[in-house]
Amino acid sequence: NEDLSLDDQIEILPYDRRWEFPRNRLKLGVQLGAGCFGRVVKAEAVGVKDSEENVKTVAIKMVRSQTNAAALEALVSELKIMIYLGAHLNVVNLLGACTKTLIRGELFVIVEYCRFGNLQTYLINHRNNFVNQVDELGNLLSDAEMEEKNTDLISWSFQIARGMDYLASRKVLHGDLAARNVLLADDGVAKVADFGMARKMYYEGNYQQSGQKLMPIKWMAIESLTDRIFSTQSDVWSYGVLLWEIFTLGKVPYPGLEGNHQLVRQLEKGYRMDKPDFAPNYMGEIMSSCWKADPKERPSFSEMEEMISSQMESTV
Ligand code: ADE
Repeated sequence: NEDLSLDDQIEILPYDRRWEFPRNRLKLGVQLGAGCFGRVVKAEAVGVKDSEENVKTVAIKMVRSQTNAAALEALVSELKIMIYLGAHLNVVNLLGACTKTLIRGELFVIVEYCRFGNLQTYLINHRNNFVNQVDELGNLLSDAEMEEKNTDLISWSFQIARGMDYLASRKVLHGDLAARNVLLADDGVAKVADFGMARKMYYEGNYQQSGQKLMPIKWMAIESLTDRIFSTQSDVWSYGVLLWEIFTLGKVPYPGLEGNHQLVRQLEKGYRMDKPDFAPNYMGEIMSSCWKADPKERPSFSEMEEMISSQMESTV
């Protein structure tokens, strides 16, 4: 397959019929979200995954090709990537798909429903539950006190690194890692979602993107911005930005810096964001290391898992 373009290679990834789920056993509910690629609705599914009688709440990603052929293509590749990827606790898992309806230009991808929605919105809506640096009496909290109040934030950071480590081990690039693309499920579980931009790496090393698409500029590594190079190491950069979002409780990165050129120029001059006030020092160090200009100098996801878990152990 050496001569095929990456998009062609995704095209020949197989669709396994075992994932097919009958459209008439889905009862569609409210809309959970909508983006430029399509929409996500809540649904009740009867007999999903062996449980013949059980009704399970699921989320369905859908597009209509009539409205956007590129969106349909993106969802088809997302489906194939999810099938290839397999299941992991810290990834939003595939439950099935309705592809028979493709004759009408309609595709449903059925995934796990995550009750607490996306991480970015959750952080913004629950800002008051997380630490303020001062207690009720107006005293500044110590590092240890801050750490204790931030256990959820630290746990999510750890779990996202785990999910990403799994992707990296399967040689899948996420390409759009950000708080908006992490979902929160029961029991404090965080799951990496939205593989719309994901690519399987068929070659060792980097994947060079061709053509211009809408890009998540503020989450992109410097080499992705300047040379359109994407790799697991560029996902690591995005993970650093995601950590910054977590510990600012959902702020937009690089406040005040707008526009592609301005950002690239600043990054090339060596400018990086500061450690958020709420973040423990070691998290600030992880962020800085994710943003090293040389991709090879950035830590791996498994190294970051290790770093975070050792800090978690030393505080409990
Ligand atoms: N919003 C987008 N995808 C979702 C999902 N799988 N569960 C809950 N809310 C969502």
